[in-house]
Amino acid sequence: MTLFSLFLALTSFSLSLSFHTVDSFSLHRTRTVSVSPLISKSRTALFFSPDDHQSNAPPVQPRRSIVAGNWKLNPATLTEATTLLRLLKANFENHRDASSATEVVVFPPFPFLGVAVQELQGTGIQVGCQTIGTHEQGAFTGEVAPSMIQSMGVTYVMLGHSERRTLFGESDTAVNNKLQLCLAQRGLQVILCVGETLQEYETNLLASVVDVQLKKALVGVSSQDVLERIVVAYEPVWAIGTGKTATPSQAQAAHEAVRATLTALYGSHVAQGVRIQYGGSVTPDNIDALMAQPDVDGALVGGASLTADSFTRIVDGGIRAASATSSAYAPPPVELTATEVVPCANVLGESPVWSVRDQALYWISAPEGELWTWKYHGDNNQHNRNEPPYRRLIGTTLGCTALLEGEPHAVLLAGESAFMKMTMKADSGDFASSSSCTATNFLCERPEQDQATRPNDGRVDRQQRMVFGMYNNYHREGSSAGENNCGLYRLDANLQLESLLDYKYRVSNCICFPASGDTIFFCDTPTRKVYAFDYPVLTNRREIWTMPSEWPGGPDGAQVDADGCIWMALSGAHRVVRVNPDTGHMDFVVHLPVSSPTSCTFGGPNLDELFITTRKPDGGGLFRVKMPFGIRGLPEPEFRVNNNNNNNLVGQEQTTTQPTAAAVAVSSDNVMQEEGNANVQPAAGNTAATYASMAAAYKQMTNNGQ
Ligand code: PGA
Repeated sequence: MTLFSLFLALTSFSLSLSFHTVDSFSLHRTRTVSVSPLISKSRTALFFSPDDHQSNAPPVQPRRSIVAGNWKLNPATLTEATTLLRLLKANFENHRDASSATEVVVFPPFPFLGVAVQELQGTGIQVGCQTIGTHEQGAFTGEVAPSMIQSMGVTYVMLGHSERRTLFGESDTAVNNKLQLCLAQRGLQVILCVGETLQEYETNLLASVVDVQLKKALVGVSSQDVLERIVVAYEPVWAIGTGKTATPSQAQAAHEAVRATLTALYGSHVAQGVRIQYGGSVTPDNIDALMAQPDVDGALVGGASLTADSFTRIVDGGIRAASATSSAYAPPPVELTATEVVPCANVLGESPVWSVRDQALYWISAPEGELWTWKYHGDNNQHNRNEPPYRRLIGTTLGCTALLEGEPHAVLLAGESAFMKMTMKADSGDFASSSSCTATNFLCERPEQDQATRPNDGRVDRQQRMVFGMYNNYHREGSSAGENNCGLYRLDANLQLESLLDYKYRVSNCICFPASGDTIFFCDTPTRKVYAFDYPVLTNRREIWTMPSEWPGGPDGAQVDADGCIWMALSGAHRVVRVNPDTGHMDFVVHLPVSSPTSCTFGGPNLDELFITTRKPDGGGLFRVKMPFGIRGLPEPEFRVNNNNNNNLVGQEQTTTQPTAAAVAVSSDNVMQEEGNANVQPAAGNTAATYASMAAAYKQMTNNGQ
């Protein structure tokens, strides 16, 4: 146990004692909710009210949260609707079990219902329509009947939305007629919207307006139908589409008023079982606070449901509130700050790897096709005697780099169309070659030559094989081609490629391995979910972390430390975080002054410094933060190529067209330092077994303070 984990254990023990006293007042909550992203606990699962005891009514089951997207009169064309549906599908398929924790429904306009049902098959997302006609059949030109949409696979109907009431004159009686018609159609459920105007709110009429709307809409409706087939959406009219959200406590008060009317009509047993959604300017930023209210059981989302990623993040907020299962109190994370150490101004810095052999960091700038290196002698280097970093222009988009077993400064490069080997020496010229991939540095083609993809994130496993994923080139544009079309691959010493996943995804990231090498971490960035799989055969997938919905961006590159925890760059969120893969707890946050850290790794003479690459527009430099509490990284394994593929392992690349200055110095102080302060030298030709023992020996040695 490191000093730090002892500190955490003690802190969590003392804080969990005080937390139990707070918990005792929350016995009447039936829903399992999250108190904050970091502090979550199970609320009492079953609810007994005084009158339930008298009537011997069965206990009310926990309310399952429900998030719905109301597309209104959007988007303009079938093509755009299909795009939105496909992006939603890509986010949910394989990544979210929408059929369990939280119910998810989208409400497209009538003409897109068919394609919505079709496209969303297998995602668990249900489809609803935004209103319905008042008749089942006959001479009613322009009308739509419940049986029609039900026969298409639609399962929900929204009734009484304020825009229907105010813009189309829909009365409470009409809402009631439509509700009766829907309930007569087996298999249909209803979201019944109620809510007050600003004037009504300001004159304290909220409770009575909602009371009247509910009572009139529910005339003749049985308690069983109310309990099993109706969801109430409370939507203050003044919050719809205005950007003004009711505060969580305003929403809670209104939901209590709704439940009071339901209690008066049907008794508390039914009232406690009915789900009540909040609607009105719900976003990824406010979903957590709303869902933390005991009577808020979900959200009806308008504007934010028109972007697949923001709707997905709102669903994640709902899922998190519904499925927070740990009763352990997690102390707040330790906050650190990284500072820029190399102002390299990368368009998109990525894939940092530290070589114990070379005592140097390597990284790339992906779109510019640049390979960078920096020999670094540690933060206690007096008078800043580190050498300046330098780069080579490879001339093709790069996905990642890795250390290559062999001579010093040898690296593997995953280029847009092929894998290459390269040496990185300060005197070898700014340009690698006139064309990036030559006979002497070519290793093999990358997979998926017929797809609009390229290699992306990757790391070398403990058997010295390269594991890498792909990047869907259309991802940035968010276009319809942003469907899942990328695979995860392993390149072995014979340069044979093996596909590792039985499904496709959009953007590979977070690939890294703990010291044992028996687990791999992986994330498809747009889904914001990080998984662990058993390795080397990818089985037993388990979700270990979902990025909090209120943080923009997504998980990017990652690295595992010697304690087995994952340090993840959260691009767009100004942060790198450490997550314990066993508990999902986030116990460190590294803040950056730039929005998009892209990846990280441990380096420095003691592997106790975290180096972080970043990207433009506001970043691009290399950042560093010294690790506290004895936290250290593991030596990075080197990719091995078998001898028969390796005659010319790190051959000289073709001579460049007019080499420019040998090095691109970005450090003002260019004093060379003698080499040889490496504490650990990986033995040549490590096998997986020797790697594991080397890592253990290294950890032991560094724990002893060497
Ligand atoms: P909004 O719409 O989220 O854009 O405010 C909500 C609704 O009308 O259902």
